[in-house]
Amino acid sequence: MITAGKTSFRLDTEHTTYLIRKTKYGHLEHVYYGNLLDKEDDVEALAQKRSIMVGSSVLYSKDDDVYSLDSMCLEWSDNGRGDYRHSPTEFKMPDNSFVTDFVYENHEVVEGSVPMENLPTAYGGDKTLKITLKDKAYPIFIDLYYTVFEKTNVISRRAVVRNEGNAPITMKRIMSISMDMPDECFQMYTLDGGWIKEANLHKRPASYGITMNSSTTGASSNRHNPAFLLAEADANEDYGSVYAFNMIYSGNHYSIVEKNERDYVRVCMGINPHLFEWVLSPGEKFETPECVMSYSSQGFNGTSHHMHDLINEHIIRGDYKKKERPILLNNWEAHFFAFNEGKLLRLAKDAKKLGIELFVLDDGWFGERNNDKAGLGDYKVNPKKLPEGMKAFADKIRNLGLDFGLWFEPEMVNENSDLYSSHPEYAIKLQNRSSVFGRNQLVLDLCQKEVRDYIVKQVSSILDEAEISYVKWDMNRHIAEAFSKALQNQGEFYHRYILGLYEVLKRIFEPRPHILLESCSSGGNRFDLGMLCFSPQIWTSDDTDPIERIKIQTGLSYFYPQSTLGAHVSEAPHQQTLRETPLATRFHAACFGCLGYELDLKYLTPEQRKDIAEQIAFYKQYRKIFQYGSFYRIKSYKPNKVIWETVSEDKETALTGFFQILATAAESSDKLKVIGLKKGRYTIRTRPQKLYVERFGGLIKHVAPVELNPDGVIMRVANRHYSLKDCVETYTCSSEALAAGIPLCEQFIGTGYHDKVRMLGDFGSNMYITEKENIQQK
Ligand code: DGJ
Repeated sequence: MITAGKTSFRLDTEHTTYLIRKTKYGHLEHVYYGNLLDKEDDVEALAQKRSIMVGSSVLYSKDDDVYSLDSMCLEWSDNGRGDYRHSPTEFKMPDNSFVTDFVYENHEVVEGSVPMENLPTAYGGDKTLKITLKDKAYPIFIDLYYTVFEKTNVISRRAVVRNEGNAPITMKRIMSISMDMPDECFQMYTLDGGWIKEANLHKRPASYGITMNSSTTGASSNRHNPAFLLAEADANEDYGSVYAFNMIYSGNHYSIVEKNERDYVRVCMGINPHLFEWVLSPGEKFETPECVMSYSSQGFNGTSHHMHDLINEHIIRGDYKKKERPILLNNWEAHFFAFNEGKLLRLAKDAKKLGIELFVLDDGWFGERNNDKAGLGDYKVNPKKLPEGMKAFADKIRNLGLDFGLWFEPEMVNENSDLYSSHPEYAIKLQNRSSVFGRNQLVLDLCQKEVRDYIVKQVSSILDEAEISYVKWDMNRHIAEAFSKALQNQGEFYHRYILGLYEVLKRIFEPRPHILLESCSSGGNRFDLGMLCFSPQIWTSDDTDPIERIKIQTGLSYFYPQSTLGAHVSEAPHQQTLRETPLATRFHAACFGCLGYELDLKYLTPEQRKDIAEQIAFYKQYRKIFQYGSFYRIKSYKPNKVIWETVSEDKETALTGFFQILATAAESSDKLKVIGLKKGRYTIRTRPQKLYVERFGGLIKHVAPVELNPDGVIMRVANRHYSLKDCVETYTCSSEALAAGIPLCEQFIGTGYHDKVRMLGDFGSNMYITEKENIQQK
């Protein structure tokens, strides 16, 4: 709900209130953002008081010694009028100064969300408030848009600048949001990393001065995801004040948190001003990306639920919104570039037998792409690999009863390619410098219309010809040497690139809503809300080692729901970390996302095949809850445990993954808490899992009736064909008992093994199914 009074604006979601007021000089003051207020609550009581002059302040009016912009909580702010904090704008005005003074001009409230011309937005909002500010000296306007998503407890904000004067202005910085709040000893949480170590959560105090979270690589990046949290110092998963912010944008982003000497904290978020410059001519307007914010006093799980609901309800669009995602097999880690039709069909047949639903052919199917040095840009099937062409191959896959998906990297080109030979001018590079390379490739210049048209034509024709139902859209290098021959002003480059990308995605995929798009950028190098407006899921990371994935998926879970995370089971020892992990743990980590497998199935033992077939059947049974359930990070008092839970929409079923990182000697007993369920009686049980003979190593000789060499032929054969059963526990109890925690059977500590001992060791895990008594299925 939005209530616009004479001098104040109140935005309510189901559980939160956001309050703004207009000061007597027309500036917008931020009054409150927090739990839902009583409808009688008024702005005067909640606003910061201005009752004394602050020493060494610059006054806005010489007759008003308590009105200094520097000592106020503002909703928008300027340069050169006495506020010395970071301003959301840096405009060179027609008088060549950087001084602006934007004050209230008018406002309107409209139904629903207001779409943008060139940028993706969250859709289906309840109401939108538009407050227009005007500079006091020039007819330059800023429209501040606030859209309320009541049920999901999210408010989105963005700004549009309009030049209605007769001289251009130069924008060096234009943020989407700015907001000041009194400090609560805020801690800032960000998701940082790099290739194969994306989205690790980091915490730091938002202390005096500026704390920044930004990217400069041309994408939202694996270095620093755009999303961040501000939380009171004592907040934890279930309690405490938490603000969450994210941005619907895939390019260079920028957020600052600035604490000033009055202990006010400013949050600004928008396009990164680094290398940005935009000239706004008379009659032109500039749209900034939409940012989304949420508040919860229920800790991190609280804001996560809001953000997850927002994404599932208002970001993901098209045929795959709320739809269960197929279990896929991707051939990349099985083959890399070395495959032919025979190898692919064998893999697909094996996949089908295990219950896989979608076969994805990754890199290497086109041009001279036999390694990563050639072929990018030439999307013509390599006849040595697929002699009858893509359509014939896709039909063969479909005849096996599988859907068919294909990999592309449309934004890139290799120098060694037909495309580069015929159109070197399509690549981003400078004539007076030698090129810099990433993975042997150059980036195509999406600022050029010819390049966008080329990509749309190439990709679309294969999609239609081979009736593709899934696309993996990859992007494997950072942008450098930002320069486009299509631009007069190179300060526009990075933003224009992203506008070009969105245009291409729209042109290809909007007319083909049946295609499931999975975006990828060396894994999670472009994991953001902008891409999620086009691709319902994103390849989370090239790292499928479950122990690393636990960190990555935990980090992302603060902002992104499981339905958006591509999560695959791959080989062990793992291809990037060399870590040996149980198959069960690889599966359990991948369950809390969109499950896939990425390994050469022909090397599986008969026992592993049975195991995987059971895993897939189990996932299918609970897929909706794994992909769309309410996700909880369960607090563990032991540092070597990670516990994830997902609860069904009716709150009658919960699935809990219990992961042990490094085992400690003589592990003490563990407790399993299951929260978020409806009141009632439940049965909780362990998913039965296989315990491979090899896991016991030399211990086996103590339990076998005859002495066996642990590395001998008999044991190796036994490991291929047999496994032991891991401990299965079943209890019946109330939702209250589950919330308090059920003590589990003891772990193996070297003093004996039987069926009531949990065999976890390093990297072990269990999955628990909790179901309301009347719906217990097995
Ligand atoms: C990077 C991706 O993240 C991988 O999954 C794979 O598709 C390779 N690119 C292929 O080159």
